[in-house]
Amino acid sequence: MSFIQVEKVWKEYDDQIVLEDLSFEIEARAFLMLVGPSGCGKTTFLRMLLGEEAPTRGRILIDGKPLVAEPDSDRGVVFQRYSVFPHLTALRNVMFGAELAQAPLLGRLFGAKRRAVEDKARVLLAEVGLAGSEDKYPAALSGGMQQRLALAQALMRRPKVLLLDEPFGALDPGIRSDIQALMKRLWNETHLTVVMVTHDLPEAFRLGTRILAFERSRNRPEERARYGAGIAKDIEIWPPRIAGGKPFTSPGRDDPAARGAEPGRPGLQAS
Ligand SMILES: Nc1ncnc2c1ncn2[C@@H]1O[C@H](COP(=O)(O)OP(=O)(O)OP(=O)(O)O)[C@@H](O)[C@H]1O
Ligand SMILES: [Mg+2]
Repeated sequence: MSFIQVEKVWKEYDDQIVLEDLSFEIEARAFLMLVGPSGCGKTTFLRMLLGEEAPTRGRILIDGKPLVAEPDSDRGVVFQRYSVFPHLTALRNVMFGAELAQAPLLGRLFGAKRRAVEDKARVLLAEVGLAGSEDKYPAALSGGMQQRLALAQALMRRPKVLLLDEPFGALDPGIRSDIQALMKRLWNETHLTVVMVTHDLPEAFRLGTRILAFERSRNRPEERARYGAGIAKDIEIWPPRIAGGKPFTSPGRDDPAARGAEPGRPGLQAS
Protein backbone atom coordinates (compact mmCIF):
# COMPACT_ATOMS: atom_id res chain seq x y z
CA MET A 1 0.00 0.00 0.00
CA SER A 2 1.30 3.41 -0.90
CA PHE A 3 1.71 5.99 1.79
CA ILE A 4 -0.43 8.64 0.09
CA GLN A 5 -3.21 7.73 -2.30
CA VAL A 6 -4.90 10.38 -4.40
CA GLU A 7 -8.11 8.97 -5.80
CA LYS A 8 -10.02 10.75 -8.57
CA VAL A 9 -9.57 14.12 -6.93
CA TRP A 10 -11.24 17.21 -8.39
CA LYS A 11 -11.02 20.72 -7.02
CA GLU A 12 -13.39 23.45 -8.11
CA TYR A 13 -13.86 27.01 -6.92
CA ASP A 14 -17.34 28.17 -7.92
CA ASP A 15 -17.48 27.47 -11.65
CA GLN A 16 -13.72 27.25 -12.09
CA ILE A 17 -12.28 23.77 -12.26
CA VAL A 18 -8.73 23.94 -10.93
CA LEU A 19 -7.72 20.29 -10.75
CA GLU A 20 -9.34 17.55 -12.76
CA ASP A 21 -9.52 13.88 -11.92
CA LEU A 22 -6.12 13.39 -10.30
CA SER A 23 -5.21 9.82 -9.41
CA PHE A 24 -1.76 8.80 -8.27
CA GLU A 25 0.10 7.33 -5.33
CA ILE A 26 3.11 8.49 -3.40
CA GLU A 27 5.45 5.97 -1.82
CA ALA A 28 6.66 6.44 1.73
CA ARG A 29 9.93 8.40 1.84
CA ALA A 30 9.55 9.70 -1.67
CA PHE A 31 10.80 13.20 -2.45
CA LEU A 32 8.10 14.25 -4.88
CA MET A 33 8.56 17.45 -6.85
CA LEU A 34 5.47 19.19 -8.25
CA VAL A 35 6.02 21.45 -11.23
CA GLY A 36 3.69 23.22 -13.64
CA PRO A 37 2.71 26.65 -14.95
CA SER A 38 1.57 29.39 -12.61
CA GLY A 39 -2.06 29.00 -11.61
CA CYS A 40 -2.33 25.30 -12.50
CA GLY A 41 -3.20 24.31 -8.94
CA LYS A 42 0.05 23.24 -7.26
CA THR A 43 -0.57 25.24 -4.09
CA THR A 44 -4.20 24.17 -4.11
CA PHE A 45 -3.06 20.54 -4.19
CA LEU A 46 -0.62 21.08 -1.30
CA ARG A 47 -3.38 22.74 0.71
CA MET A 48 -5.56 19.70 0.16
CA LEU A 49 -2.73 17.47 1.41
CA LEU A 50 -2.41 19.76 4.41
CA GLY A 51 -6.14 19.47 5.09
CA GLU A 52 -6.77 23.20 4.67
CA GLU A 53 -8.93 22.56 1.62
CA ALA A 54 -11.15 19.58 0.84
CA PRO A 55 -11.40 18.03 -2.62
CA THR A 56 -14.69 18.81 -4.38
CA ARG A 57 -14.79 15.19 -5.48
CA GLY A 58 -12.59 12.18 -4.80
CA ARG A 59 -10.47 11.55 -1.75
CA ILE A 60 -6.96 11.48 -0.39
CA LEU A 61 -5.75 8.71 1.90
CA ILE A 62 -2.68 8.88 4.12
CA ASP A 63 -1.50 5.54 5.46
CA GLY A 64 -4.75 4.02 4.20
CA LYS A 65 -6.91 6.45 6.19
CA PRO A 66 -8.93 9.32 4.73
CA LEU A 67 -7.11 12.55 5.33
CA VAL A 68 -8.26 14.53 8.35
CA ALA A 69 -9.82 17.77 7.13
CA GLU A 70 -7.61 19.96 9.28
CA PRO A 71 -3.87 20.43 9.66
CA ASP A 72 -2.37 17.99 12.17
CA SER A 73 1.05 16.96 13.35
CA ASP A 74 1.38 14.32 10.64
CA ARG A 75 2.02 17.11 8.18
CA GLY A 76 4.42 20.02 8.39
CA VAL A 77 4.51 22.85 5.91
CA VAL A 78 6.87 25.57 4.70
CA PHE A 79 5.65 28.25 2.32
CA GLN A 80 7.69 30.58 0.15
CA ARG A 81 7.25 33.40 2.65
CA TYR A 82 5.56 34.16 5.92
CA SER A 83 5.91 30.71 7.47
CA VAL A 84 7.42 32.04 10.70
CA PHE A 85 5.85 34.30 13.33
CA PRO A 86 7.50 37.75 13.29
CA HIS A 87 6.72 38.46 16.97
CA LEU A 88 8.47 35.34 18.30
CA THR A 89 12.21 34.70 18.60
CA ALA A 90 13.74 31.90 16.52
CA LEU A 91 13.71 29.58 19.53
CA ARG A 92 10.07 30.31 20.39
CA ASN A 93 9.08 29.97 16.76
CA VAL A 94 10.37 26.40 16.81
CA MET A 95 8.89 25.66 20.26
CA PHE A 96 5.52 27.16 19.47
CA GLY A 97 3.84 24.21 17.73
CA ALA A 98 4.89 21.77 20.44
CA GLU A 99 3.81 24.15 23.20
CA LEU A 100 0.44 24.70 21.59
CA ALA A 101 -0.08 20.96 21.18
CA GLN A 102 0.78 20.22 24.81
CA ALA A 103 -0.81 23.32 26.38
CA PRO A 104 -3.60 24.30 23.99
CA LEU A 105 -5.06 27.01 26.23
CA LEU A 106 -1.97 28.94 27.25
CA GLY A 107 0.32 28.04 24.39
CA ARG A 108 3.13 27.97 26.95
CA LEU A 109 4.74 25.20 28.94
CA PHE A 110 6.57 25.39 32.26
CA GLY A 111 9.21 23.43 34.15
CA ALA A 112 10.55 20.13 32.90
CA LYS A 113 8.16 19.91 29.98
CA ARG A 114 9.26 23.30 28.75
CA ARG A 115 12.92 22.39 29.11
CA ALA A 116 12.42 19.20 27.10
CA VAL A 117 10.73 21.14 24.29
CA GLU A 118 13.37 23.84 24.44
CA ASP A 119 16.23 21.32 24.26
CA LYS A 120 14.68 19.71 21.23
CA ALA A 121 14.15 23.08 19.57
CA ARG A 122 17.80 24.05 20.18
CA VAL A 123 18.99 20.77 18.63
CA LEU A 124 16.81 21.39 15.57
CA LEU A 125 18.02 24.97 15.23
CA ALA A 126 21.59 23.70 15.28
CA GLU A 127 20.64 21.06 12.71
CA VAL A 128 19.55 23.76 10.28
CA GLY A 129 22.64 25.87 11.01
CA LEU A 130 21.02 28.45 13.27
CA ALA A 131 22.90 27.83 16.50
CA GLY A 132 23.60 31.26 17.98
CA SER A 133 20.46 32.82 16.50
CA GLU A 134 18.03 31.39 19.05
CA ASP A 135 17.12 34.77 20.53
CA LYS A 136 16.86 36.69 17.29
CA TYR A 137 13.55 37.76 15.81
CA PRO A 138 12.84 36.80 12.18
CA ALA A 139 13.30 40.40 11.01
CA ALA A 140 16.93 40.14 12.10
CA LEU A 141 17.50 36.98 10.03
CA SER A 142 18.30 36.81 6.31
CA GLY A 143 15.81 35.24 3.88
CA GLY A 144 17.76 31.98 3.81
CA MET A 145 17.94 31.89 7.61
CA GLN A 146 14.20 32.52 7.87
CA GLN A 147 13.51 29.60 5.57
CA ARG A 148 15.83 27.37 7.59
CA LEU A 149 13.96 28.51 10.69
CA ALA A 150 10.68 27.60 8.98
CA LEU A 151 12.13 24.15 8.22
CA ALA A 152 13.11 23.65 11.87
CA GLN A 153 9.63 24.78 12.89
CA ALA A 154 7.98 22.33 10.50
CA LEU A 155 10.25 19.46 11.61
CA MET A 156 9.70 20.07 15.34
CA ARG A 157 6.57 17.95 15.50
CA ARG A 158 8.16 15.12 13.55
CA PRO A 159 5.74 15.17 10.65
CA LYS A 160 5.49 12.14 8.42
CA VAL A 161 4.95 14.37 5.42
CA LEU A 162 6.73 17.63 4.81
CA LEU A 163 5.00 19.96 2.36
CA LEU A 164 7.14 22.65 0.77
CA ASP A 165 5.64 25.35 -1.45
CA GLU A 166 8.51 26.98 -3.34
CA PRO A 167 10.38 27.34 -0.06
CA PHE A 168 13.59 28.45 -1.72
CA GLY A 169 12.02 30.48 -4.52
CA ALA A 170 12.93 33.88 -3.12
CA LEU A 171 16.53 33.05 -2.21
CA ASP A 172 19.77 34.02 -3.93
CA PRO A 173 21.40 31.19 -5.92
CA GLY A 174 24.26 30.54 -3.48
CA ILE A 175 22.04 30.43 -0.41
CA ARG A 176 19.57 28.40 -2.37
CA SER A 177 22.03 25.66 -3.15
CA ASP A 178 23.14 25.52 0.51
CA ILE A 179 19.57 25.10 1.70
CA GLN A 180 18.88 22.50 -1.00
CA ALA A 181 21.82 20.51 0.32
CA LEU A 182 20.47 20.89 3.85
CA MET A 183 17.02 19.73 2.77
CA LYS A 184 18.46 16.70 1.02
CA ARG A 185 20.51 15.80 4.07
CA LEU A 186 17.50 16.13 6.40
CA TRP A 187 15.48 13.93 4.07
CA ASN A 188 18.26 11.36 3.96
CA GLU A 189 18.58 11.25 7.72
CA THR A 190 14.89 11.09 8.60
CA HIS A 191 11.93 9.06 7.45
CA LEU A 192 10.23 11.98 5.84
CA THR A 193 8.06 11.89 2.77
CA VAL A 194 8.45 15.25 1.04
CA VAL A 195 6.12 16.91 -1.44
CA MET A 196 7.68 20.07 -2.79
CA VAL A 197 6.50 22.62 -5.34
CA THR A 198 9.12 24.37 -7.42
CA HIS A 199 9.34 26.48 -10.53
CA ASP A 200 12.96 25.49 -10.98
CA LEU A 201 13.44 22.33 -13.06
CA PRO A 202 17.14 21.84 -12.21
CA GLU A 203 16.09 21.97 -8.54
CA ALA A 204 13.39 19.37 -9.26
CA PHE A 205 15.94 17.02 -10.80
CA ARG A 206 18.54 17.67 -8.12
CA LEU A 207 16.30 16.98 -5.15
CA GLY A 208 13.44 14.79 -6.29
CA THR A 209 13.00 11.04 -6.49
CA ARG A 210 10.08 11.74 -8.78
CA ILE A 211 8.66 14.70 -10.69
CA LEU A 212 4.97 15.25 -11.34
CA ALA A 213 4.04 17.95 -13.84
CA PHE A 214 0.56 19.43 -13.62
CA GLU A 215 -0.86 21.06 -16.72
CA ARG A 216 -4.12 22.11 -18.27
CA SER A 217 -4.20 20.21 -21.49
CA ARG A 218 -7.05 22.24 -22.97
CA ASN A 219 -6.10 25.85 -23.13
CA ARG A 220 -8.72 27.50 -25.35
CA PRO A 221 -9.77 30.68 -23.55
CA GLU A 222 -13.49 29.98 -23.94
CA GLU A 223 -13.21 26.63 -22.18
CA ARG A 224 -10.51 27.56 -19.68
CA ALA A 225 -12.70 27.71 -16.64
CA ARG A 226 -14.37 24.43 -17.46
CA TYR A 227 -11.26 22.28 -17.46
CA GLY A 228 -8.78 21.75 -14.73
CA ALA A 229 -5.17 20.67 -14.74
CA GLY A 230 -4.23 17.02 -14.73
CA ILE A 231 -0.96 15.14 -14.65
CA ALA A 232 0.97 15.85 -17.84
CA LYS A 233 4.15 13.99 -16.88
CA ASP A 234 5.20 11.59 -14.17
CA ILE A 235 8.96 11.08 -14.15
CA GLU A 236 10.57 8.54 -11.86
CA ILE A 237 14.10 9.68 -11.07
CA TRP A 238 15.17 7.31 -8.39
CA PRO A 239 13.24 4.59 -6.60
CA PRO A 240 12.13 5.78 -3.17
CA ARG A 241 13.81 3.98 -0.34
CA ILE A 242 11.94 1.33 1.58
CA ALA A 243 9.89 2.63 4.50
CA GLY A 244 11.61 1.87 7.76
CA GLY A 245 14.95 1.45 6.01
CA LYS A 246 18.15 2.65 7.57
CA PRO A 247 18.80 6.36 7.36
CA PHE A 248 21.55 7.07 4.89
CA THR A 249 24.83 7.92 6.56
CA SER A 250 27.72 8.40 4.28
CA PRO A 251 31.26 8.89 5.57
CA GLY A 252 31.58 11.80 3.16
CA ARG A 253 28.32 13.40 4.14
CA ASP A 254 29.84 16.62 5.35
CA ASP A 255 31.91 16.93 2.25
CA PRO A 256 30.00 19.44 0.10
CA ALA A 257 30.74 17.41 -3.01
CA ALA A 258 29.18 14.32 -1.49
CA ARG A 259 26.35 16.05 0.32
CA GLY A 260 23.01 15.04 -1.03
CA ALA A 261 24.38 12.38 -3.32
CA GLU A 262 22.68 9.01 -3.13
CA PRO A 263 24.76 5.88 -2.97
CA GLY A 264 25.10 4.65 -6.51
CA ARG A 265 23.72 7.86 -7.86
CA PRO A 266 26.73 9.74 -9.11
CA GLY A 267 26.32 13.07 -10.74
CA LEU A 268 23.09 14.04 -8.99
CA GLN A 269 24.17 16.19 -6.14
CA ALA A 270 22.39 18.74 -4.06
CA SER A 271 25.14 21.30 -4.15
N1 LIG B 1 -9.37 30.08 -2.17
C1 LIG B 1 -9.55 30.21 -3.50
N2 LIG B 1 -10.71 30.70 -3.99
C2 LIG B 1 -10.89 30.80 -5.33
N3 LIG B 1 -9.97 30.47 -6.25
C3 LIG B 1 -8.81 30.00 -5.83
C4 LIG B 1 -8.52 29.85 -4.43
N4 LIG B 1 -7.27 29.34 -4.30
C5 LIG B 1 -6.80 29.21 -5.55
N5 LIG B 1 -7.72 29.59 -6.47
C6 LIG B 1 -7.53 29.54 -7.91
O1 LIG B 1 -7.06 28.28 -8.28
C7 LIG B 1 -6.10 28.36 -9.32
C8 LIG B 1 -4.84 27.63 -8.93
O2 LIG B 1 -4.20 28.39 -7.91
P1 LIG B 1 -2.87 27.86 -7.19
O3 LIG B 1 -2.48 28.89 -6.23
O4 LIG B 1 -3.09 26.49 -6.70
O5 LIG B 1 -1.84 27.81 -8.42
P2 LIG B 1 -0.29 27.48 -8.41
O6 LIG B 1 -0.08 26.36 -9.37
O7 LIG B 1 0.20 27.27 -7.01
O8 LIG B 1 0.31 28.82 -9.04
P3 LIG B 1 1.73 29.54 -8.73
O9 LIG B 1 2.77 28.73 -9.44
O10 LIG B 1 1.57 30.88 -9.33
O11 LIG B 1 1.93 29.57 -7.25
C9 LIG B 1 -5.92 29.84 -9.61
O12 LIG B 1 -6.70 30.16 -10.74
C10 LIG B 1 -6.45 30.51 -8.37
O13 LIG B 1 -6.99 31.76 -8.68
MG1 LIG C 1 1.49 28.32 -5.77
